[in-house]
Amino acid sequence: MVRKENGCVTENLWRCVAFTKILVTSAWPYINYVPHLGNIVSSILSADVVARYYRLKGHEVVYVTGSDEHGTPIEIEAVRQGIPPKQLTDKNHAQISELFARWGIAFSNYTRTENPVHKEFVHNFLMKIYDNGYIFTKETDQLYCPKCDRFLPDRFVEGTCPICKDEGARGDQCDACGGLLEPTNLLEPRCAICGSSPTVETRKHWYFDLPKLSDKLREYIENNENLPDNARNFTLNLLKEGLKPRPVTRDNKWGISSPFPGSEDKTIYVWVEAVLGYVSATIQYFKQLGQEERWKEYWFDKQAKTLYFIGKDNIPFHTVILPALLLATHEDYNLPWTVHSTEFLMFDGQAFSKSRRIGVWIDEALELFPADCWRYSLLSIRPEVKDTNFSWTTLIEKVNSDLNDTLGNFIHRTLTFIKKQFDGTVPQPNNLDEKDQQTLAEATEIVNKTAECLEQFKLQEALRTAISLSHLGNRYFNEKEPWKTIKTDCQTAANTLYVTVQIVKKLAIILEPFIPFTTEKLWELLNLEGSVHDQRWSETEQELPPNHKINKPKPLFSKIEENEEELQAKVEQIREKLKKAKA
Ligand code: MF3
Ligand code: ZN
Repeated sequence: MVRKENGCVTENLWRCVAFTKILVTSAWPYINYVPHLGNIVSSILSADVVARYYRLKGHEVVYVTGSDEHGTPIEIEAVRQGIPPKQLTDKNHAQISELFARWGIAFSNYTRTENPVHKEFVHNFLMKIYDNGYIFTKETDQLYCPKCDRFLPDRFVEGTCPICKDEGARGDQCDACGGLLEPTNLLEPRCAICGSSPTVETRKHWYFDLPKLSDKLREYIENNENLPDNARNFTLNLLKEGLKPRPVTRDNKWGISSPFPGSEDKTIYVWVEAVLGYVSATIQYFKQLGQEERWKEYWFDKQAKTLYFIGKDNIPFHTVILPALLLATHEDYNLPWTVHSTEFLMFDGQAFSKSRRIGVWIDEALELFPADCWRYSLLSIRPEVKDTNFSWTTLIEKVNSDLNDTLGNFIHRTLTFIKKQFDGTVPQPNNLDEKDQQTLAEATEIVNKTAECLEQFKLQEALRTAISLSHLGNRYFNEKEPWKTIKTDCQTAANTLYVTVQIVKKLAIILEPFIPFTTEKLWELLNLEGSVHDQRWSETEQELPPNHKINKPKPLFSKIEENEEELQAKVEQIREKLKKAKA
């Protein structure tokens, strides 16, 4: 295999290379609307967990993404609202950036594709691959809507998929089968704005010569053993069918201007420029730090890893288009080290739908409950192997039983016991018995297993494992009955609480990637220095020393009192309120 660094095989890589540079990325959200719960869990939230974990491990992590501002979804929404696209994206970019911060997403750089650094990078990049002979022109048939007086690329046109015959296919892609399409392939095409049948017009366009890169792409896919099976198989299949040249230019007005000689009236196809945003956002990040050259450490240094978190409908853009563009520079860019995609999150058994009002959006969610309740609930059902269903019942169950009754209860009973019986200081252990020692050993095992799951990007299992540490703590606490031993054998009670508070500290660190706000509060309750976000994973093995004074305990969670119907009614009220506030 190619990925042998420092003589290590991949499985042991993380252990061998002490500190690695890791670029974590997530798909750039279209900002025609506020993202919904399914959008955030698949990409942005998943990447956040992984970025936070690797920071705790001491790696040099850079997490970048941004608003995908161009492309037809935005243009269509701007037409709908009757405002210029830039006005729409300015407004939404500001709002969505703020929402991500409130969700606790720890980006290094959340930028946007209208950023000048991005535009300039895209121009130079495309001219480089043009000079390298990967761009050619061709006259092609374009769909045109006479009623709207506009060309209909991508999502401006809808119709029946020529591959699977699904009737809801769009001009660029069919969601039902995942196939990449061209508008003129669609059967029974119709204008997405007015519904009329388009005419066909001939226009010159600039194309990316993907077939020229097929062999190199195949080599990359076959030799990259970090790619999960779904990404690998999907891509190998595309390669087997044979890649077709992809248009790079569009007749849209809204977008990044095309740099090719003679293409002045065109813009760049949104996917081609958006995937380059991963590079430009890294450049911009280091530029802001005044370290202009350092982005290269992440994009060219072969020790660096680039991790991509995306929804499954985005796979071909990250395993074909992006690597092909990077290869076409002949500059030895790092190709995606791994590309992780999720299946879909459903809401009450149905697909999220803005128009049919099915689901919950990330602004509404925060009006109902704190971000950590959502982060926890969503990550615990993250659709890793199959579509999973989110419902109000899920939320109630996760918050009330996992967070409140298990985790919250274990922490609170430990801290209040110490406050009351040991004057708020960590008790001095003496002669730990077998059960005590065994419990501490099991706790260490759970910490290690959590790390292992995270390194394999099994976030759902990682979270389940981490939470099992509080089950362990509760079981041990119940068995040891310190409320009895405190009266008969004070040292035994001291040993018990010494053990449980060690577990509490471990929980604060291993849960940080998942519930960062709560673990920060817990760090404060434990009266530990600095922020939990700046700790090291290895700190889980450091003792919380005897006589250390803790702060006054406060419950970290509260129960959801409402039932499912009440929650649904509440979210609808919130939706109305937010709509009014916006208008
Ligand atoms: N905006 C796209 C979507 O929501 C994702 C773009 S990912 C990028 O489907 F890599 F192109 F930026
Ligand atoms: Zn039309």
